[in-house]
Amino acid sequence: MTDLSQLEAELSARIDAAADTGALEAVRVAALGKSGQVSELLKSLGGLSPEARREQGPLINGLRDRITTRIAGRKATLEAVELDAQLAAGRLDLSLPPRPRRKGAVHPTMQVMDEMVAIFAEMGFAVAEGPDIEDDFHNFTALNFPPKHPAREMHDTFFLQAGAEGERKVLRTHTSPVQVRVMQKTNQKPAAPWIATGQDPPIRVIVPGRTYRSDSDATHTPMFHQVEGLVIDRAIHMGHLRWTLDAFIARYFETSAVETRFRPHHFPFTEPSAEMDVRCDRSGSEIRIGQGSDWMEIVGCGMVHPNVLRNCGLDPDEWQGFAFGFGVDRLGALKYGMPDLRDMFAADTRWLAHYGFSPFAMPNPATGLS
Ligand code: DAH
Repeated sequence: MTDLSQLEAELSARIDAAADTGALEAVRVAALGKSGQVSELLKSLGGLSPEARREQGPLINGLRDRITTRIAGRKATLEAVELDAQLAAGRLDLSLPPRPRRKGAVHPTMQVMDEMVAIFAEMGFAVAEGPDIEDDFHNFTALNFPPKHPAREMHDTFFLQAGAEGERKVLRTHTSPVQVRVMQKTNQKPAAPWIATGQDPPIRVIVPGRTYRSDSDATHTPMFHQVEGLVIDRAIHMGHLRWTLDAFIARYFETSAVETRFRPHHFPFTEPSAEMDVRCDRSGSEIRIGQGSDWMEIVGCGMVHPNVLRNCGLDPDEWQGFAFGFGVDRLGALKYGMPDLRDMFAADTRWLAHYGFSPFAMPNPATGLS
């Protein structure tokens, strides 16, 4: 009996004397922890006779409850004191300028690619991809570039060093080689799972990707982006091509007032071939679309050359279609008013902060994209 009241007096004094929550926790562990004094007493009940247990049990349990309550009370007091001390010591200076928030942005080219994929997806196009490092066959030969023809130089190609078999790979000069990968059925496994493999017509794909040429001025950068398109079926003609490009342009610029012109052109892989320009004004520091007297070429296109179909194993008497290749960066410059394409890849964060897009913006009602 005396032991218990003595222990209670002792513990109570230590609880009341605990100067902070840390000291109080130490007292709690010493009393109620796994091998605390009170816990040990509770454990000893098991070894007592039933009569003794009946007598001692309520006493020890009562002690435990009172100590628990006392600790909780002291804890509340100490916490309040500590909070007051913290509040008194801390200072909040509302006049301090906030720290700048560093926020990333979506590059306009990626934004435009997403917009293009969304618009063409609605027209029923699937997305195909190919490698940036191409072989001569896909980049040139299969696309009907004659061997040793200056057409190969026309593209200002970046060649890689020749490999063991003497083959010189290229940084692809256009996304057109992916046309070949989509049409040509081989039993070779592609080097990576995302690389397009041959499929049977009808075919309706677009190919967004990076392309490379040794070129640099306000409208050319050595690395740029294209979106290729390919449609193969039994009765596809130039009218389908024209409609598709016009429908895309109206959708992309969110107006049907954009003026375009179709010019005859030459590409080895299409016959007939054309280029489409958009009317714009480049006299100021910005490009303005739908006004002015300048024209900017944005897409090359044409009917897929019979030789290309043949090179890919398709019978030109059975299948025909159109193809196109958009300059993505130019489309972005036209829509969002960037005057010099080289700025797009200068990695200047001020430029990106100005022209970049928020990844969390509300979806654009026209494209469903943010
Ligand atoms: N590959 C061409 C270039 O980079 C663009 C192009 C023209 C793509 C006509 C096509 C096409 O698919 O049919 O200049």
